[in-house]
Amino acid sequence: MVQFDNARQLVQELQPEVPVVCQRPHLAERAARRFLEGFPGDVLYAVKANPAPWLIETLYGAGIRHFDAASLTEVRLVREHAPGATIGFMHPVKMERAIAEAYFVHGVRIFSLDTEAELEKILTATQGAADLTLCVRLQVSSDLAKISLSSKFGADESADASLLQAVRGKAERLGVCFHVGSQAMSPAAFAGAMDRAARAVRRAGVIVDVLDVGGGFPATYPGMEPPDLEAYFAEIAAKFEDFPKAGNARLWCEPGRALSADAESVIVMVMGRKDDALFINDGAYGSLYDAAHLGWRYPAQNLAREGAETPFRLYGPTCDDADQMFGPFYLPEATQVGDYIEFGTLGAYGRSMVTGFNGYGRFQEAGLADDPFPSLFKGAPEMAAEEINR
Ligand SMILES: Cc1ncc(COP(=O)(O)O)c(C=O)c1O
Repeated sequence: MVQFDNARQLVQELQPEVPVVCQRPHLAERAARRFLEGFPGDVLYAVKANPAPWLIETLYGAGIRHFDAASLTEVRLVREHAPGATIGFMHPVKMERAIAEAYFVHGVRIFSLDTEAELEKILTATQGAADLTLCVRLQVSSDLAKISLSSKFGADESADASLLQAVRGKAERLGVCFHVGSQAMSPAAFAGAMDRAARAVRRAGVIVDVLDVGGGFPATYPGMEPPDLEAYFAEIAAKFEDFPKAGNARLWCEPGRALSADAESVIVMVMGRKDDALFINDGAYGSLYDAAHLGWRYPAQNLAREGAETPFRLYGPTCDDADQMFGPFYLPEATQVGDYIEFGTLGAYGRSMVTGFNGYGRFQEAGLADDPFPSLFKGAPEMAAEEINR
């Protein structure tokens, strides 16, 4: 891996013709430390946010010992790059063969589900295994999150109690899980979902061994400055105290975005300019997927010039109308063809969204040592490495 002090040095030396994904391991380690220190339970990294092997290895090295996989490919990836990790296969609808390989080949014992049909499938695929931790996914509100995850998965209030009872009868450990939506802007998102889960557990009259509050922990983006993560951790810890559960019950979370967002940026080149529109070599079918499809904004810096800034809209390199990112992205007025722009906080749902559409999708990789963008983790007290190796 080629290393530079910062992005300016990188573009001077490489003059890259394809986008460059920049890895910042020190920022992944900082995020891991903050979760391991602050979250009052086990932290599962949700691999879907960024499945880069370097990131899985870095988080594992920093003390993250649990991973949330959403597919068999992710299960295999974690097993390869974090060999001793505990893996949860947390997609509620899985192929039977994927469950069998996860269980028999990769040692996965944790699965999520939201129907009795999936329970049967898991039991068939694992040949009636008696050592399963089965997490019932509940449908919860996404009202306090920027990206909804409330409509596709999760047992609703008409079905949750009977499903909890059915799973209790088959699982060694019964878990309850949910997802409050990605980029949850308030700790109240978790408090509301935990109340809703507590009601379901009381209605079902079951003993719960695991409460998994899922992902949704935020990162900082322009126009989206959430409260400190400590406020989320404190709210979750307080609610867990009163949650109906077994005496030795565990609390889990599955952050994807919050553990990965700061860890990568992407450098693009300006290929054309028309007034306030810049044509760049990455976009809606690449790492700027969320900028195009969700109107997400990322911090941006022109690596070639400084000066008074003005709002720009961006077009990606493909021929498709959808390949546009209206931001606005604030860059120097004098920005022109040939300039390089670095977008920060692109470690979550950036590289994981890249496609090969129109012949694009290739990128270079490099390591950077600096910390130029706003972050929820800046200024946080850091733990000594030996304290987190648990
Ligand atoms: C089951 C599950 N867990 C965790 C995550 C990660 O969420 P986030 O990146 O918002 O933390 C997701 C995202 O879709 C998910 O579906």
